[in-house]
This record gives sequence, C-alpha cells and structure tokens, in this order.
Amino acid sequence: MNVLILGSGGREHAFAWKISQSPVLNQLFIAPGNPGTASLGTNLSISVNDFEAIAQAVRSYDIGLVLVGPEEPLVRGIRNFLESQEDLRHVGIVGPGADGAQLEGSKDFSKNFMHKYGVPTAASETFTKDTIDAGLAYLEAQSLPIVLKADGLAAGKGVIIAQSLAEAKSALKEMLLDAKFGAASDKVVIEQFLRGIELSVFVLTDGEDFVVLPEAKDYKRIGDNDEGLNTGGMGAVSPVPFATESFMNLVERKVIKPTLEGLKAEGIRYQGFIFIGLMNHEGEPYVIEYNARMGDPETEVVMPRIESDFLSLLIAVAQVQLKGQTLQISDQFAVTTMVVAGGYPEEYRKGDVITNLAQVEEALIFHAGTKEEDGQIKTQGGRVMAFTGTSNTLENAIQKSQKAALTVKFEGKNFRRDIGLDVLRYKV
Ligand code: AMP
Ligand code: GLY
Repeated sequence: MNVLILGSGGREHAFAWKISQSPVLNQLFIAPGNPGTASLGTNLSISVNDFEAIAQAVRSYDIGLVLVGPEEPLVRGIRNFLESQEDLRHVGIVGPGADGAQLEGSKDFSKNFMHKYGVPTAASETFTKDTIDAGLAYLEAQSLPIVLKADGLAAGKGVIIAQSLAEAKSALKEMLLDAKFGAASDKVVIEQFLRGIELSVFVLTDGEDFVVLPEAKDYKRIGDNDEGLNTGGMGAVSPVPFATESFMNLVERKVIKPTLEGLKAEGIRYQGFIFIGLMNHEGEPYVIEYNARMGDPETEVVMPRIESDFLSLLIAVAQVQLKGQTLQISDQFAVTTMVVAGGYPEEYRKGDVITNLAQVEEALIFHAGTKEEDGQIKTQGGRVMAFTGTSNTLENAIQKSQKAALTVKFEGKNFRRDIGLDVLRYKV
C-alpha cells in the first residue's frame, strides 16, 4: 500500500521511521515532511491545510492510507473533505472528522462532553464577552491557582495558570476583550487547578474497538526542573513507572470507555488517535485535555516501543477492523530529548547550520524544525530535532539521548538536561 503522512515535525518523522519498516508498505510519501523524512520516503511540497492539493496527491500517487499528523487539518475537516471526493471513497484515513476533532478544537466542547459522559475532569465554567461580569464574579469565588483556557486552538499557548486573583482577572479580560489568542479566546474555560503527576495516554480507535499505545510523560517547560515558559514539549519518556497496571485499568474504565461511548452516543464516528492528557491526582485519573492526534515529542518515544507492524494497525483502524488486533510493546525504556533553537519558545534563531549529526551513533534522530539548503541541514523551527535513546534501563536510555543532544552542534542550541531524571527518582 502507498501511504501519505501529513505533517513536518518530529512526530511525522517518527511515524515515517516506523511505517517504513512495514512489510505491507509499498511507497511512502510525506507532505510536506522534513529532511529527516526525505531519507525514508518522498516529500511532497504541499501544506497540510491545502486540501485540494492533498486530494490531488492522493490520486496521483495512488495513496491507500492517509495518516494525519497535526491537529489543524483535522479540526478544519481534512477527513470530511477527502470523504466528499467521489473517486477517493476507497482511501483509508487515520484521524477523526471535524466533529470528533472538536475534542481538541474546542475546550468548551470537550469540557461539556466530559461532564455529560461522566469522564473525571476538573470543575469548570465557560464565559464569553457577553458574560464577562459573571466570569469575573466566578473567579472571585474560586481558590488559587486557577486555570484559564482559550476555547480554540492556540498552538499550545492558550492556557494560563493564574497564581493571584488580579492575574486571573486581567487574563480573562485580555482573552475575552482584547482577543489575546485571536478568535480562539472568544470563549474562555475557567477551570479548577489540579495537583498531581501528569501522564499522556494514547488510544487508537476505529470507532468500535481500541488499543492503548505505550504511555508517556512529556516535559513541557523550557527549563530544567520544569521552570520557565511552556513549550510544545522538550522531551518525553516511556514507560512511566507511575502508570501501573491498576492505574491504567482505572484509566480504561473511568476515562477511555466512557469517552468512546460518549463519542458513539453523540453520533461521532471516530477513527484515529485520542491523546488523553491526564493528571494522576491522589491515585485517580482526571482528564486535563483531549487531543485528536498523537503527541509530539511523545510519538518519538512511543514508536520505538511498538514491536508490532504499525501500518497494519493503522489500516485496521481505517477499515474498522481493529477488533481482535493486539499490540506487541517492548519492555525497553525510550527517552527523547528535544534540541531547540536559541530563544525558543519566544522569538528564536533560524538558519543556523547543524553539524556533527553523523557523530550521533547511539540514538535515533528525528528531525523537527530543520531544512536542507545548499547541501547543509539548517535550523528552521523552534524545536529542531529529537534524539531518542532506547535501552533495558532508564539510566542508559537517558544517557544515550543526552549524549546525542550534546553531540549535535549549532549556534544557540538549547536542551533540557533533566529529561527522565524525575522518573528515575520516582522508581527508586
Ligand atoms: P494544555 O494546553 O491543556 O495541555 O495545558 C498545558 C498545561 O497546563 C498542561 O500540560 C498542564 O501542565 C497545565 N494544566 C492545564 N490544565 C490544568 C489544570 N486544570 N490543573 C493543573 N494544571 C493544568
Ligand atoms: N507534547 C504535547 C503535545 O503534543 O500536545
């Protein structure tokens, strides 16, 4: 089968790496891809939001399966668009339609969904410009810290954790009155702050059945010890020792099953990933957010732990044949460290030449924000590359990943030195 992956980050490189090993793969295409994916398949210079051009590529290259990486085309309805093309009815798509993608595309939708179907989550209320006075009054009655979330997609930046009432009030005003996150903050969800340890759980469903992929822990802050600004993710670890069998059973019973039943009850046919951001609060799972896609950089630790043929699983999802499918998962630890451009997550450097890549020997290299120019690999995005170490011990996996991050060179390079160390301490 010919496969088209949409996206250009480390997640898509990790997908491409795994799928390129599949015995059922014929040709692999990535749109738009990056210099890393170019070594595994054919990059097509098409934006993930150019649906017409994507449909044309599906025709031209006889694509049998489209795997959608990022959330934006999902929320904009790439599935709906492809399904509306008479001659593309046979094409399998991994990723929900615009209705299912609302789980990620609208925090208000996802909170209402969770409340309606009894999925444990923080108490919340939604406010708009017209109800701002009620919102300000609501804030007065809440304990601190308090969480404010822009309703729509805001590239991971739409969440504010306010430590004081004054901060919370001015954030609410900025979001609703000054469109701090554009139209994404036309509605704001105000949510109780949850204490605990975070965990990312990944479900792959065909709308009827599901498999749970390896869980992961993400490191969102720019600095060591979780200090500084939020980022798209600076590293990840899998497995996560506090995701014990009994905790994961709770997650399945209290979160995954009611979520899938809720989707069915809403008449939403969901074929794709559900990435569930969870808080383990005193041993109980609470959903912080749903995403309609895999995580990045979590995919860079999840793919290396999957032993089964991943493409066959994706085909089963697209054909609603997941029932009875099992997943072989390796016991090995996987740790990924994201190397980022100087300045990131604020204004960052671009176009710096990356060297020493050939010296990286003990880790998998996943390109994210890179480009090839004049025969050189250069930095292009904030998150530049992820290096994944795998090993029977967490210590070794961390060491391999860190060594690679140290080895590669470019001006302004930055990365966290503590990926996995908290998990190591937790284990002992
Ligand atoms: P999100 O963009 O929804 O993933 O939120 C970004 C980060 O904010 C999460 O990964 C959490 O660390 C934090 N966060 C979001 N909601 C809450 C909450 N209700 N309680 C505590 N932390 C939260
Ligand atoms: N690493 C978090 C995300 O992909 O949303």
